[in-house]
Amino acid sequence: MNAVIVYASQTGFTKKYAEWLAERTGGEAMEIKEAESKGAEYFDKYDAIVYGGWANTGKVVKSNWFTANMPRWKGKKLAIFCVGASLNGGSHIDDMMSKVLDEEQSKYAKAFYCQGGLSYEKLSLGSRLAMKAYAAIIKRNKTDNEADKKMAELISDSFDVSDPKYLEPIIEYLNK
Ligand SMILES: Cc1cc2nc3c(=O)[nH]c(=O)nc-3n(C[C@H](O)[C@H](O)[C@H](O)COP(=O)(O)O)c2cc1C
Repeated sequence: MNAVIVYASQTGFTKKYAEWLAERTGGEAMEIKEAESKGAEYFDKYDAIVYGGWANTGKVVKSNWFTANMPRWKGKKLAIFCVGASLNGGSHIDDMMSKVLDEEQSKYAKAFYCQGGLSYEKLSLGSRLAMKAYAAIIKRNKTDNEADKKMAELISDSFDVSDPKYLEPIIEYLNK
């Protein structure tokens, strides 16, 4: 498969997933900045175009680069994945992912979530402060959701819950 995996990553988790996916598909990983500089027509040569972005307050960073260009790429395998600190099964994932593609876009592309982690050391000061504030809210929330409870335990410090196995649903979709 001739695949390209474009990604936006602040602290490296999404980059790692993009590289794992490139390895598994025999494709190439490309940073969003490079992709933006090329223009949509450059990607016509690929059979599969995948976009990965990190989760920022319930949104997939730079996902509009992908969704705006998608109509041009109809007929190709199209997938978008989001990498966040929420653990798989976390209560806010479904809500976040349901907003990534609209009804029309969902007919010819698919959205996926991969749990990543948190790297406070690599965050900018602004992001670190925002994340600490978010962590305080999460730790106060009462919940019965096991993934949320586990995340509340982890969120005060850096953690890494990424694993290439979480790419399996994407690989299965691309190979269908
Ligand atoms: C300002 C900010 C907002 C975030 N918002 C979310 C969020 O809404 N949901 C989530 O699961 N993770 C959230 N995260 C965590 C990141 O998405 C997570 O650390 C991800 O693994 C980062 O990927 P990267 O290393 O590719 O940048 C947030 C992080 C920061 C700094």
